Amino acid sequence: MKPKKIGVLTSGGDAPGMNAAIRSVVRSALHYGMIVTGIRRGYGGLLSAEIIEMNSRSVSDIIHRGGTILRTARCPEMMTESGLERAAGICKVLGLDALVVIGGDGSLHGALDLSRLGVNVIGIPGTIDLDLDCTEYTIGFDTAINTAMDAINKIRDTSYSHERCSIVEVMGKLSGQIALWSSITGGAEDVLIPENDDEANSTETVIREVIENRAVGKRHNLIIVAEGVGGSEALAKEIERITGIESRATILGHLQRGGSPTALDRMHAAYMGYKAIECIQNDEFNKVIVVKNGKHESMDIAEALASENPYDDTMYRIVSKLAR
Ligand code: F6P
Repeated sequence: MKPKKIGVLTSGGDAPGMNAAIRSVVRSALHYGMIVTGIRRGYGGLLSAEIIEMNSRSVSDIIHRGGTILRTARCPEMMTESGLERAAGICKVLGLDALVVIGGDGSLHGALDLSRLGVNVIGIPGTIDLDLDCTEYTIGFDTAINTAMDAINKIRDTSYSHERCSIVEVMGKLSGQIALWSSITGGAEDVLIPENDDEANSTETVIREVIENRAVGKRHNLIIVAEGVGGSEALAKEIERITGIESRATILGHLQRGGSPTALDRMHAAYMGYKAIECIQNDEFNKVIVVKNGKHESMDIAEALASENPYDDTMYRIVSKLAR
């Protein structure tokens, strides 16, 4: 029987553990006698057929490295019908029996669109955002959240010494997950997330809470702001102007996207990559590998991407309840 040929790409924002996922995909596929084509620079690289043949040595010494050896990009052309048709055409010309896409929401939607044009796809959720309803875990989240927590610990030291109000802005344009986890694990007293209404995120509400927390004996303040809410610098200035408390803002930014993946990220990456290839080996296509009730399983990609990411209101309440 002719060996199966698969393509693998990483797309969208990089996430620690993507390399471990590529390694798992490549070595699991080789184990089953498949031919593996690496596609560089995400969907953009697919459109320009930037491909490399991959063997076991292509993925040596990458398990511990952040980023992605295949590189990644955001590709607006994949939002167009002509771009999608071209991408599907290239998969056909390359003779791919399946395309493994490692990425977040936008990247997996790209895979879904390709599946509707006849490309066999398997999605692996890789994003620091943990913002997909279909899965309890996305590769990169644990590393990102530990990076954020470590940074917050350090900011807490100096915030304590100077008795300041410290604002820390973490990533998450549409999702407050990183902000919520950072707040609870970093012991912040307030969190501003995009899922909340204007009242909860308003400068007045934050300043009121700072004043109340000082009144109950707190000598410094720690507030987490999600990127999607933004305005950390302006918030710090306004807190200082109104309360007279010295305030500083720190934007963690892309720091959260790099670094050596944690054990948890490497484990999920290994598992998800292996499961993805198992699906292909069993001729099960158009799936996303998800974690449900703590177990890895495959789920129909259209079904997986159909529901919106829910927001855990309890986490939000925990932040304020543990603040005083
Ligand atoms: O999707 C991951 C993410 O890091 C988001 O949290 C953030 O909003 C976005 O990517 C930033 O994208 P870019 O790297 O293109 O600035």
